[in-house]
Amino acid sequence: MTYKNTKSFQAFINSPFRSIKHKSYFNVYDALLEEYIGKEITFVEVGVLDGGSLFMWRDFFGEQARIIGIEINKSAEAWQDHGFEIYIGSQSDPNFWKGLFEEIGKVDIVLDDGGHTYQQQIITVESALGNIKPGGKIIVEDTYTSYQKEYGYPSNHSFIKYAANLVDGINLRTPKIRTSKDSNKVISNISFYESIVSFSIESEESLDLAEGIPNNGSILEKQAESLRYADKPILTKLENLIIAFKFFQNFPVLGKLLKICGVLVTKCFKILNNRIDNFKLRKYFKY
Ligand SMILES: C[S@@+](CC[C@H](N)C(=O)[O-])C[C@H]1O[C@@H](n2cnc3c(N)ncnc32)[C@H](O)[C@@H]1O
Repeated sequence: MTYKNTKSFQAFINSPFRSIKHKSYFNVYDALLEEYIGKEITFVEVGVLDGGSLFMWRDFFGEQARIIGIEINKSAEAWQDHGFEIYIGSQSDPNFWKGLFEEIGKVDIVLDDGGHTYQQQIITVESALGNIKPGGKIIVEDTYTSYQKEYGYPSNHSFIKYAANLVDGINLRTPKIRTSKDSNKVISNISFYESIVSFSIESEESLDLAEGIPNNGSILEKQAESLRYADKPILTKLENLIIAFKFFQNFPVLGKLLKICGVLVTKCFKILNNRIDNFKLRKYFKY
């Protein structure tokens, strides 16, 4: 769909005050936020001095939405006369966020269009994470700053690196690989768009489901073997050899020794195989 036909673009064009957005953002806004239109939501935007986006979001969501603006510049208080709630403070100050959420309670959406430094973006997400209602979202704009020298590129602590680390946290929920590293407790999904990253929030209980559950289906008499290494003849031969020598495993000492050797050799071959695969896959890692 052309961005001009989106609901968010119509609201943007209708805003009586100045706002600048990437053309690519409007389709993303519609995809991420359409479900909240007409609902009694609480929407928080960081960076609202010019007021243009405040009016845009009121038009987009409807009059029943509670729209809260966060701004470092005190002049933004003028927008209170237009029915918006404005809080003056810095998004890079965790104490400001703590006090804010104590006052306004949990919210549905936080959208960050503030100063765009890594520190501001990361502290905004960290501060908002425990204060979003299940089903809500945190959306961070202008994440291209993660690739700009003036913002610190290259850095292992850019916003995009931070978001990728949270992706690791989602996968670490799986019990098979869960480590002492804390997993993401409330993020169900992270979506990356051109210069926008969106985090979907759910309750901790609803996300604590990372374990297999069988259905009631019957099992074929001869179970299909895993064909993971079917195209790796050496590994397949090795695994078949271990199966063929299963008989010897019944002998007390020799059997145990053979088993240990078999498992060790197979492990080594798997590691070697993965190393070779990784080497071949290098060309797909372009950036
Ligand atoms: C890109 S403008 C926001 C534009 C607005 N969202 C719009 O579309 O109309 C960025 C805003 O973030 C504010 N800002 C910068 N650093 C901030 C900080 N640390 N805390 C809160 N607001 C900040 C600036 O004063 C400025 O008004």
